[in-house]
Amino acid sequence: MTSTMIPPQSAPFTPAVASAGTNTDTAPLPAILGTYKRQAPLFVRGEGVYMFDETGKRYLDFVAGIAVTSLGHNDAGVNGAMQEALATGLIHTSNLYRTAPGEALAQWFVDNSFASSVFFANSGAEANEGAFKFARRWAKSTGAPAKHEIIAVRGSFHGRMPGTLAATDRPNYRMPFRPLMGGVSIVERDLTELSVALDPETAAAVIVEPIQGEGGVRVLDTAFLQGLRKLTEERNVLLILDEIQCGLGRTGTLFAHEQLGFTPDMLTIAKPIANGLPMGAILVTDEVARVMQPGDHGTTFGGGPLLAHVAHHVVQRLSDPALLTHVRETGEWFGEQLQGIAQRTGAVRAVRGKGLMWGMDVHEPASAVIARAFEQGLLLVSAGEHTLRFLPPLVITRDELTAGLTILESALKS
Ligand SMILES: Cc1ncc(COP(=O)(O)O)c(C=O)c1O
Repeated sequence: MTSTMIPPQSAPFTPAVASAGTNTDTAPLPAILGTYKRQAPLFVRGEGVYMFDETGKRYLDFVAGIAVTSLGHNDAGVNGAMQEALATGLIHTSNLYRTAPGEALAQWFVDNSFASSVFFANSGAEANEGAFKFARRWAKSTGAPAKHEIIAVRGSFHGRMPGTLAATDRPNYRMPFRPLMGGVSIVERDLTELSVALDPETAAAVIVEPIQGEGGVRVLDTAFLQGLRKLTEERNVLLILDEIQCGLGRTGTLFAHEQLGFTPDMLTIAKPIANGLPMGAILVTDEVARVMQPGDHGTTFGGGPLLAHVAHHVVQRLSDPALLTHVRETGEWFGEQLQGIAQRTGAVRAVRGKGLMWGMDVHEPASAVIARAFEQGLLLVSAGEHTLRFLPPLVITRDELTAGLTILESALKS
């Protein structure tokens, strides 16, 4: 049996299509480094599921800052939590000192998940990079000297830092930055292939998104994920679930893996934790927590009192059963509406998703549809060249969704 493990350097190079790397020698440089192609209007205000530009034009937000502002903009509860935190006068202390908000938030995660301990980071990529380090630290403790490999799967996106980029299956993002971190491979989403790759002597961890977001909103097969969990247990390899995009209520349960019938060894979360304030977290089992010692990892800002107090408010709201029921029911209805649009317009190849995380493959470039929707006041984001992605705030109503669907249908027809 042969494995098709793909070393980080072997993928063919395709020039970036949507990169902003077009600054010429003569063009004036943007003050913010040109790593993004930003829409022209200046956004100045947010309210609920809407953003407003400087002319007062209103945009219905089906992006939510890429799955971040799940409670919408200018939420009274989030604002109140920020005010409470500010009133203490303690925005930051560093991790050299204890603060109550950080400890309360960590305890909340311990009480509401499989985890024994939590590490707070500042972004999704930082959470995943940390999880890779924890996996290697744990692997060293098993007594297998060569155990270090991190294995990701086809279609993955885990971040833009050296380790996470090596675990991200996007040639355009990777190729300009080779060599990437070593000891990281991408394997087909296939249990036979993974069975070859998961050598107990060399493999430390597998990382996978239960729903691949950037990779096209691909809901991975439950039987595949359950098989992978079993395989990792048999081979003494850690399973890291990356729920940075699909977690924290997005699919109708607090954690996406609650719908899979198993728990991981580590879980990474980020985006919506503090509804827009930057935060990530690594949730770990007792087995992983016990190998980590003072000095093994660190971060200056992670889990500071302002962030943690706001996040504690947000995660309690995101775990509210009424909100989760709303996401499941509204999400199912939304998916049906997208299917209806697909049938009526003939502009769509496929629709897939779960909860309030949906993808729509379109015949023309997604960027063309996004531009037309933008003109009509609807914010959309892509997930690959021909996939539209829908990540509205979780609090969105059916009426608001209907307004967006009407614009979408018109943008697809034009
Ligand atoms: C599944 C997943 N993992 C990791 C990341 C990286 O998160 P961040 O952009 O906060 O570094 C993202 C971002 O889109 C993501 O969707």
